Amino acid sequence: MSKRRLFVTTALPYANGNFHIGHIMEYIQADIWVRFQRMQGNQVHFVCADDAHGAPIMIAAEKAGITPQQFVANISSGRKPYLDGFHIGFDNWHSTDGQENHALAKEIYLQLREAGLIEVREIEQFYDPEKGMFLPDRFIKGECPACGAKDQYGDSCESCGAVYSPTEVKNPYSALSGSTPVLKKSDHYFFKLSDPRCISFLKDWTQGLNAEGRHRLQPEVLNKIKEWFVTDESGKSGLGDWDISRDAPYFGIEIPDAPGKYFYVWLDAPIGYLAALKNYLDQKPNQKNVADEVGFEAFLSDPSVEQYHFIGKDITYFHTLFWPAMLHFSGRKTPSSIFVHGFITVSGEKMSKSRGTGIDPLKYLSLGMNPEWLRYYLAAKLSARVEDVDFNPQDFMLRVNSDLVGKYINIASRASNFIHKQFDAQLGSVQPRGEQLLGQLQAAAPTIAKLYEDREFAKALRDIMSLADHVNEFVDQNKPWELAKKEGAIDELHAVCTTCLEAFRYLSIYLKPVLPSLCAQVEVFLKCSPLVFADANTRLGPGHVINDYKHLIQRVDEKVLDKLFELPVETDSKPKPSGAITSAKADSNADVSSGSSDQQNSEAPGGELIAPTIGIEEFAKVDLRIAQIVSCENVEGSTKLLRLMLDIGEGRTRQVFSGIASVYKPEDLVGKLTVMVANLAPRKMKFGVSEGMVLAASHADEKATPGIYILHPWIGAKPGMRIH
Ligand code: MSP
Ligand code: ZN
Repeated sequence: MSKRRLFVTTALPYANGNFHIGHIMEYIQADIWVRFQRMQGNQVHFVCADDAHGAPIMIAAEKAGITPQQFVANISSGRKPYLDGFHIGFDNWHSTDGQENHALAKEIYLQLREAGLIEVREIEQFYDPEKGMFLPDRFIKGECPACGAKDQYGDSCESCGAVYSPTEVKNPYSALSGSTPVLKKSDHYFFKLSDPRCISFLKDWTQGLNAEGRHRLQPEVLNKIKEWFVTDESGKSGLGDWDISRDAPYFGIEIPDAPGKYFYVWLDAPIGYLAALKNYLDQKPNQKNVADEVGFEAFLSDPSVEQYHFIGKDITYFHTLFWPAMLHFSGRKTPSSIFVHGFITVSGEKMSKSRGTGIDPLKYLSLGMNPEWLRYYLAAKLSARVEDVDFNPQDFMLRVNSDLVGKYINIASRASNFIHKQFDAQLGSVQPRGEQLLGQLQAAAPTIAKLYEDREFAKALRDIMSLADHVNEFVDQNKPWELAKKEGAIDELHAVCTTCLEAFRYLSIYLKPVLPSLCAQVEVFLKCSPLVFADANTRLGPGHVINDYKHLIQRVDEKVLDKLFELPVETDSKPKPSGAITSAKADSNADVSSGSSDQQNSEAPGGELIAPTIGIEEFAKVDLRIAQIVSCENVEGSTKLLRLMLDIGEGRTRQVFSGIASVYKPEDLVGKLTVMVANLAPRKMKFGVSEGMVLAASHADEKATPGIYILHPWIGAKPGMRIH
């Protein structure tokens, strides 16, 4: 079979925060698939990019006092440790704010306009008169029209779950300025998804087969899509036209011939897939992993090139309707398939930083936990279905220790010792019953390959581990440790151990997409060239010399695992660093803060180790100000929190909640000066929005060493002064 050529992406993450474990899961899934394809001899271009545009990023940048470009660059510069750390091998990492994307988005838009699929319509929307901008739904707040709960978002109520439109909210206010929004008219640009041509194309596309003769979409996805197509009593299709424009100020790409109008972020975001590929293919051959003889346009439009996008279930609509329609009606080839995965939960809970769940990927790495444990564990749970995947710490430890260490690595460690000590590191011939075993291992290759191809990783690993079980049974039956002591059994010992190492090599081939770094060490140990699937047809053979066996992988240590789940010392009782940025999809975007490992030990000052070193530039990002406590009160319904109104000389006061009610009475604090973090993103708490954080000292173990001490400046400091 001739080699396939593939173009593969994952979803482009919003550049408003660091990666969380959900991103890492998606990348691991895609990376395993890509590595498998390459081990089959196929050519893959695997790219991703930051999704840079949109109102939330613009607003976050403004709050941070930097340009959106700088803001995105900061986030982008933090990507590498995650990707390298988990062996995620994108060929290129680009940005939707790159020039390729600006050009491609405009080009595609103009082609859609040419096709008669763009329409301008006047709509009425909430406008923040103080900020001078239209408000995205997430930035409109008010009382829920259904249950009356206060401080709810403009699109849904967190208290009763009701979904509504922003104009239904009672007593609406702008989350940006606090002012009352007014309704204002403006021209918006629409992509006419309801056009009969679009509907008929999308019905065919979603249900049809791709050029490889496979379904483009998973069955669950297809079912969901059928609901979206349902026509109402009047015969109107469920597919509404899509509002693709936003008014200035907006961080995005300007719409051609429409001054002051920008593409809605979701228009240019998927085009970013193409831009990232173009940026990659335009690089000089020596900067790329693979020499590609053809340029971007030729590659992309080549009917034999397959195009796949790995995405999470929440963004299915964009990828199975808008995206293929945009491509098709702009005269382009559509994706071969969209691979949709479920969400990762942690111990059964939806992850959310604010509830202290989730796993911080950098913390995982900084604790010295092996990235391939996570790759293996996730692979052992992933299927082609749109199912959520749960990370359960106990299960994680058992799985990794019993499968990876107990079943797989043990085979090598048991056999290599004898080969080295007794046979000068040379393999011999395979034991007769071993031939049968190896035959079985070899014969499994096509089935395992098919499972990888179909993204049935859990099934693939189950098959591989059952083969490992057979090998271990073989060891137990032949007892090399007894053969070693038995007179005249030396040849038998050689043949048994040789069989084991040949078997170990087959298992390594099959595990390599999941465990690339471990298998690279195995290649050194076995002195063999990089393993590919075709190696399942060969043997190392008698006379082959191997290297010393060095321990290949550790067991998961329960103590380290406990550390991973130690809550950052924050809960309700201590002022909490927020940093979460409100965005259109609050929960899945919850910022999972990185880097700060909170290892604790008895020698650590104040009960916690000094945090990793940062440069002065990083410190400078934190804006600390002298604040005067103008008023202070207890918070009804909370025994821990005080509500402080702080003046930092801005001509207004800021509301800040602080978990110090157990140690300070409101009257102790009123009128005093303290220190606050002034550029922390506002955080919505149960009792209202907290617009910063006051600084206070405490021991990491508050139970053993109680006390919280709020900072108080030296005499002479004035409200508003910055602390450098
Ligand atoms: N920027 C958009 C995607 C644009 S694609 C042209 C976006 N970004 S995101 O950062 O919110 O999400 C990126 C990917 O992570 C999405 O595929 C999303 O489904 C996935 N996940 C977010 N939370 C997740 C989990 N808890 N579990 C698994 N994947 C999750 O959406
Ligand atoms: Zn409600």
